[in-house]
Amino acid sequence: MKFDLITKDPKSKARAGKITTDHGVIETPIFMPVGTVASVKGVHQRELRDDINPDIILGNTYHLYLRPQTKILEAAGGLHKFMNWDRNILTDSGGYQVYSLSSNRKIKEEGVKFKSHIDGSYHFFSPENVMEIQRTIGADIIMAFDECTPYPCDYRYAKRSMHMTHRWLDRCITHLDKLPFKYGYEQTFFPIVQGSTYKDLREQSAEYIANAGAQGNAIGGLSVGEPAEEMYAMTEIVTAILPEDKPRYLMGVGTPINILENIALGIDMFDCVMPTRNARNGMLFTAHGTMNMKNKKWAEDFSPIDEMGHTWVDTEYSKAYLRHLFAADEFLAKQIATIHNLGFYMWLVREARRQIIAGTFREWKDKMVVQMSQRL
Ligand code: GUN
Repeated sequence: MKFDLITKDPKSKARAGKITTDHGVIETPIFMPVGTVASVKGVHQRELRDDINPDIILGNTYHLYLRPQTKILEAAGGLHKFMNWDRNILTDSGGYQVYSLSSNRKIKEEGVKFKSHIDGSYHFFSPENVMEIQRTIGADIIMAFDECTPYPCDYRYAKRSMHMTHRWLDRCITHLDKLPFKYGYEQTFFPIVQGSTYKDLREQSAEYIANAGAQGNAIGGLSVGEPAEEMYAMTEIVTAILPEDKPRYLMGVGTPINILENIALGIDMFDCVMPTRNARNGMLFTAHGTMNMKNKKWAEDFSPIDEMGHTWVDTEYSKAYLRHLFAADEFLAKQIATIHNLGFYMWLVREARRQIIAGTFREWKDKMVVQMSQRL
């Protein structure tokens, strides 16, 4: 993997860059649509490629390991072939899902024993076997196995957990060195900064992660219920320490406003279920605020879903029609809303990149934050 820093914004810490992998170029800042179980819910790969057009999508080790299971992905020749997606993929390590989804989990130094949310069966994740699983899934970017602490989290727990995440990182790196690439293309490993909402822990963790010398770095443990201001404060502390010449990935973030604010603090990569999950619940994000499409107020509004929208669904269908589809619980409602929201998120990060390169990011960001705060 190669990262080229193209432009730095003079009025913020925003950057425009370019990541090059064996599956193509990723222009940063980037948003990665979430395709948890080898599918971006409700979207054909063809629509994803042609209408939404992301350079990279995300998959989840936890889910793919449980279903379809690693052996099926291996037999398919890796996740790209299995799901027919030939652009970049990043897999999260399970270091978040194991805590948020499974019940009865037991965290020990060796690893985490957990109960599947699908059938109640017991499984074990360790830094070592998660590296093996991610080699077999075959994503272009693979993540360290970490513990994502909840919010709030007491200082003693956060500190102990952070040190364990650091020890797990060393075990990930040692083990990964012994595992060759499986499918003829390179995989790049990103470690993850933890430390909850404590400044000194975030600093220590960022230093530890920076010293690991990986080709890219991630920040975890944020957007877990803390106020946005606390998230931004932690991002700022960490980006000041992480190397400038490596991409920085803020995991699981966030709203369109969170994304712009974190771009301004030096983040290059984002993923979040929000555009897809909220779409399925009838919530649309636009440049002028959010819309609840289940609301009766749209019943007779025959204007396009989003006149300024960036995907074909925005002008093909009316608000009244989409509102009707949600009221009737039609599949199509969720599909239209998902394409709209992903199209909007992709436009947002691409426009941010364009504004950074043009030198106008700061003013544009401030205007957009106000505009997008509205509820339409
Ligand atoms: N996704 C969102 N937050 C996190 C985190 O802290 N760790 C991991 N592995 N994934 C995440």
